[in-house]
Amino acid sequence: MKDTFYVTTPIYYVNDVPHIGHAYTTIAADVLARYKRLCGLKTFFLTGTDEHGQKIEKAARELGITPKELADGVVGRFKDLWRILEISNDDFIRTTEPRHERAVLELFNRIWKKGDIYLGEYEDWYCVPCESFWTEKELGEGRRCPECGRQVDRLREKSYFFRLSRYQEPLLRLLEENPNFVKPQSRYNEVLSFVKGGLKDLSISRMTSRWGIPLPNDPDCVLYVWFDALVNYLSGIGFPEEGYEKIWPADCHLIGKDILRFHAIYWPAFLMSAGLPVPRMVFAHGWWTVEGQKMSKSLGNVVDPYEMAERYGVDQFRYFLMREVSFGLDGDFSQRAIVNRINSELANDFGNLVSRTLAMVRRYLGGRIPSPSDGQLRQKALHTLEEYRKLMDDLSFQRALLAVWELIGSVNKYIDSTAPWSLYKEKRIRELKEALYNCLECLRFVALMVYPFMPRSAQRLWEMLGFRNGIEGETIDKSGTWGGLPEGQEVAEPTPLFPRMEV
Ligand code: MSP
Repeated sequence: MKDTFYVTTPIYYVNDVPHIGHAYTTIAADVLARYKRLCGLKTFFLTGTDEHGQKIEKAARELGITPKELADGVVGRFKDLWRILEISNDDFIRTTEPRHERAVLELFNRIWKKGDIYLGEYEDWYCVPCESFWTEKELGEGRRCPECGRQVDRLREKSYFFRLSRYQEPLLRLLEENPNFVKPQSRYNEVLSFVKGGLKDLSISRMTSRWGIPLPNDPDCVLYVWFDALVNYLSGIGFPEEGYEKIWPADCHLIGKDILRFHAIYWPAFLMSAGLPVPRMVFAHGWWTVEGQKMSKSLGNVVDPYEMAERYGVDQFRYFLMREVSFGLDGDFSQRAIVNRINSELANDFGNLVSRTLAMVRRYLGGRIPSPSDGQLRQKALHTLEEYRKLMDDLSFQRALLAVWELIGSVNKYIDSTAPWSLYKEKRIRELKEALYNCLECLRFVALMVYPFMPRSAQRLWEMLGFRNGIEGETIDKSGTWGGLPEGQEVAEPTPLFPRMEV
C-alpha cells in the first residue's frame, strides 16, 4: 500500500505567457495537495512546462529566436507566477531536461519491445496550435479545427504508429471496473463513448519538425509532442530510476476538459503497453469565460493572473476561483463577481467574525484564551469538518467552502444570540468565557479548513489565535478534535484579514 498522494497539473506550453486558465488548474492542484498534506499524506505535487513541438517551434520562428531560447525565457514567467500564487509544488519538470528525455526513451523502448509500434504513412489534417491531427469528418464544414476553429494544414509523411486499436478492450475494462477513473461523470461518459466508438492507431512521430526528441531507431523523426509531454508525469518523479514506484501511479491528474482524450485514453494505453500501472483518476475541469465572452488574444480580454493577484490579493484570487464555480463546470470571471465575494464573504462574514471575536477576548478576558468548554457549537464544528473532508476527497471544492461558510454563519449567529457584551455587563463571567471559547475554537477549525485555499490568511489567523508554529505542519488527525486551543494562550490584536474593495 502506498502512503503517498501524487497530484499533477498539465505541463504548460511555453509559446505564451501564463493566463487565468493555467493559474486555475495549478491553484486547484495546490488546494488538493495542501489538503492531502493536512490529512497527513506524503504528498507529491508536480507541475512544469511542455517545451517541444511545432507550436513552440513556430512561435520561436516568429520571434526570430530558437525554441530553446523561447522556452528559457517563458519558463521563468511560470515559475515566478507559481511563487507569487503560493503554489507548493514539489518539483517542476521541463521537457527539455535530460532526465525527461531519458524517461521518454525508456518508455518508448518498452512499448517498442512489446511490439506496439510500427512504421506506416500518415496523411491527415493537422492543427498546429492544438498539435492535433483531425480526419476530414471531424473537421466539418469550412475545414476548421474542431477544437479551436482555426485553419488546418494537410500533412502527409512517414510515421511511426502506436497500436492504440489493441487497447480498446483493455480501456473499456478499465473504465467499467473504475467508475471514478474519469471525473466528473459527464467526462467519464464522453470518454466511454469515444472508446466504444472504436480506436484508430495513433501517429507518434513527426518528420516535418526538428524540435523534439529524436527516435532512437530513426533519428530523422522526432517524437510526437503529446507522447513526449505525457511522460512528464513519470520523469518528474524519477522514472526509470528506482524510487518512482513509491509515488506512481498518480492519484490525480488534474487537467482542463480540452485535453481529456490525451489523458484518459492515450496515456493509459501507453502505460498498459509499457507494463506500468495506470493513474487512479483523471479529473477534467471546465473553462473560464471573461465577462461573458470567450477569452482570446484577439479580443484582448486575456486575464493576467499577476495583475489579479496584485489587484485583489493572492488569497482572494485563489478563493474566488475555487468558490465561484462547481469544480468541473465552466465559469465566468468578472470583476464585479470577485469584488462582491471579497466584500460579502471574505470581509463581512469571515473577516468580521475574526475581528469581533478577538476584540472581545482582548476587551473582556485580557486577551487570554479561557478553559475549554463544550457548547452547542462543538457538534456543528465537528460535523462541518467531517463534511468538509468528504467534499474535499471528492474534489468538490466549492461545496467544501460552502460548508465552512455555513459554520462561519453559525458562529456569527451564535455571537448575536449569546451577546457576550451583555454577559460581560451582567458579570456572568462563566457563561462569557464559555461563549468566547466556543467562538475561538470554531475559528481554529476554520483556519485549518481554509488553509488549502488561502494559505497566507489561514497562517495569519493561526497567529492571531496565538499559535507560533506554521499551520502547514498541522494535520486534521492531530488538530481536528474539539478543545485544541490551549487555555491561557494569548490572542493577538486583530488586524483586518480582507480589506473591502470597490468595483
Ligand atoms: N501542453 C499541453 C498539456 C500537456 S500535459 C501532458 C497544454 N498546455 S496549455 O498550456 O495549452 O494548457 C494547459 C491547461 O490550461 C489545460 O488544462 C487547459 O484546459 C487550461 N486552460 C486553457 N485555457 C483555459 C480557460 N480559459 N479556462 C480554464 N482552463 C483553461 O494543453
